[in-house]
This record gives sequence, C-alpha cells and structure tokens, in this order.
Amino acid sequence: MPQSLTGFNKYDLDTPVLCIDLDRMEENIRKMGQLCRAHGVQWRPHEKCHKTPAIAHMEVAAGAIGVTCAKVGEAEVMASGGIRDILIANMVVGERKWERVASLCRHADPIVAVDHYAQVEPLAAICRRVGVAPRVIIEVNIGLDRVGTRPGRDTLELAQAIDKLDGVQFAGIMGYEGHLLKVGDQAEKTEKIHSAIAVLTGCADAIRQSGVPCDIVSAGGTGSYQITVKCPGITELQAGGGIFMDPFYRNDCQVADLEYALTVLATVVSRPTLERAVLDSGRKTMNPDVALPVVVGYPDAKIKRLSAEHCELDLGPGAQDLKIGDKVELVVGYGDFTTVLHDEFHGFRGNRLEVVWPILGRGKLT
Ligand SMILES: Cc1ncc(COP(=O)(O)O)c(C=O)c1O
Repeated sequence: MPQSLTGFNKYDLDTPVLCIDLDRMEENIRKMGQLCRAHGVQWRPHEKCHKTPAIAHMEVAAGAIGVTCAKVGEAEVMASGGIRDILIANMVVGERKWERVASLCRHADPIVAVDHYAQVEPLAAICRRVGVAPRVIIEVNIGLDRVGTRPGRDTLELAQAIDKLDGVQFAGIMGYEGHLLKVGDQAEKTEKIHSAIAVLTGCADAIRQSGVPCDIVSAGGTGSYQITVKCPGITELQAGGGIFMDPFYRNDCQVADLEYALTVLATVVSRPTLERAVLDSGRKTMNPDVALPVVVGYPDAKIKRLSAEHCELDLGPGAQDLKIGDKVELVVGYGDFTTVLHDEFHGFRGNRLEVVWPILGRGKLT
C-alpha cells in the first residue's frame, strides 16, 4: 500500500508532477459561476480538461447545474461520481454508444447533442426498448464549420422531427463559437460573437414559433465566455477550462480576470552550458501544441525545445543560477492536452499537498 503524500511540501515531491493551486482554482470556479449568475445564465462547465468528479462537485457547489462532457465515457465517469445533469456535447454514433447512453439514463440525466436524424432515430429506438428517454439537443453550425446543422430550415425540421419521436425528449440547441476565440480586436471579437450567437438564438426563436419548446440554448467556451454570457437568449454556458486558466486563454484569447492554477513541477537534470538547463519534463508530461508552457519565477527562461522526456530551457541572465537538482515549476500551456498525459492531480494549499485526485476520465475515449 503506497503511503499517503498528503501534507508533503510541493518541493519535496518526486517529479514530474501535475499540480493544482487549489486557492486559485477555487477562485476561478467562484468567478465563473458568479459571472453566469450575474447574467442570469446557467453554468454547465465543460469537464474535458479536468475529467474528475471531485472537481465537478466543486463546480456544482459554486452554482453549476451539471457538466458538459466530450465523450460518453467521460459522462459515465461523471455519473458514477454522482453528477446527474450531464451534456454530452459531441456526436454520439454507433449501436454500442447508444446502448451506453440508454444505460446511463438509469444513473444520471444525460443530454445528447445531435446534428442529424440518423443519430437520433436509432438512439430513440434503443431508448424505447430500454424504457428511458434522454434529452436531446441539436448542435447548430454557427460558423465553426465543424459539426452542426445549417441554421434555418434544416435545424427547424430536425427539431420538429425529434419532438415527434418517442424515446427521446427534444430539449433545445447548442452552438460553439470556437472560430472566434482568437479574434484580436476586442470590439470586433464582441461584435462577431454577438452575430454568431444571434444565429443560434434565431434558430431557437424559429423552433419556439413553430410550437416546439426550446428550453436550452447553450454555447460558450473559456476563450469567449465573458462576451457570450452577455448575449441575449443564451440559457447555458459551457466554458470550463478557465478553472485552470492557461497561456492559451490569456495570450491567444485575451481572457483576463482568471489566474493560472495548473502547473507541472519539474527538476533540472542537466546544465550543459551556462545558458542552458534541461528539465525532466518533455512532451510526455506537457503538450506544447496549442501554447508553450511558461516558466514560473524565471521570466527570462524560455523553452527552446521539448522532446519526449526533456525540456530544454534557454536561460537569460536572471536564471543562470539554476543548478542540477533544482525544482522548476511551469504553467501548463494548454490544459486539455496536458491533463490527458497524467494519472493524478496533486492539489496544493500554498506549498502543502492537500489532496490527490485520480483523473478518472483519462483514457475514457469512447
Ligand atoms: C462543444 C464545446 N463547448 C465548449 C468548449 C470550450 O471549452 P473550454 O471552456 O474548456 O475551453 C469546447 C472546446 O473545445 C467545445 O468543443
């Protein structure tokens, strides 16, 4: 039986280790929940980054109505962790998956996103057989051009068809303005997001005018939520990654007002030259694809190269005192692609280890 590390000082742990600053995460959760409340919008944070029921419960305690998931497997993890109201904001296709959604209805209250009758008709048939009726929402393409129905007649006709179908309940629509997160000019970003969301709310209005109730109008990610939350007609916000915050949201999406809470603690394992240090944390520990990690406390230390197990730092004059064996903390560049590399979060209060959470949804890819 491994000994509990609770109570250990952060800098006494072996590395690499994925760390949460609990005070910061809790404050981010509080702020995101509070912003939604202030605008009369429900918060259904995406859990694709943390994948951890214990954190979902902290979000619910801060006012979230439930969670958004990317996979049926993640929804199953959330349900077994006691979360009931779960949106699977992704296309769910295949006999096996539809059966799993039907089973999930016995343990939770899932919502499934669809964009075609070919996804919802077989789901409804299986659910009728099992004797359950999950909620279904339509994902509308509001400009991201990924999945989603075309706004207008296609969306309206699908809503009407789902509404007539036994075995599912039509609950509303969603869209994701992910193509607008990195618009640099904030006035332009605001205007474009309002236009994209107006397309979504226009669909909701058309559905309601046809006599079909459309309770849920869901959108929003961390890179846009401070704008999307103010768009008239939105009932739910999916922004989730902001509880950890990261350089992608801050620098690429210009999201202010949230603090970095997710880091990797690494060790200097080599000092080949005065200007170079090598850490024990490479691409198998931190994914640099969306945004590079940032070295904490050494502003002039820059990442030069990441290979599988090594991170090479170019050291400016302020970091050349780093020695072999020193610990260095790095803010994770983009949380989503990094948490999937780890088994556990280590939650710290200051430098004291308070909790270790297994990332239960990790690897639940189906
Ligand atoms: C459907 C959907 N909703 C919301 C989000 C935003 O998530 P986050 O707030 O974690 O960036 C994403 C991001 O990929 C998404 O695909």
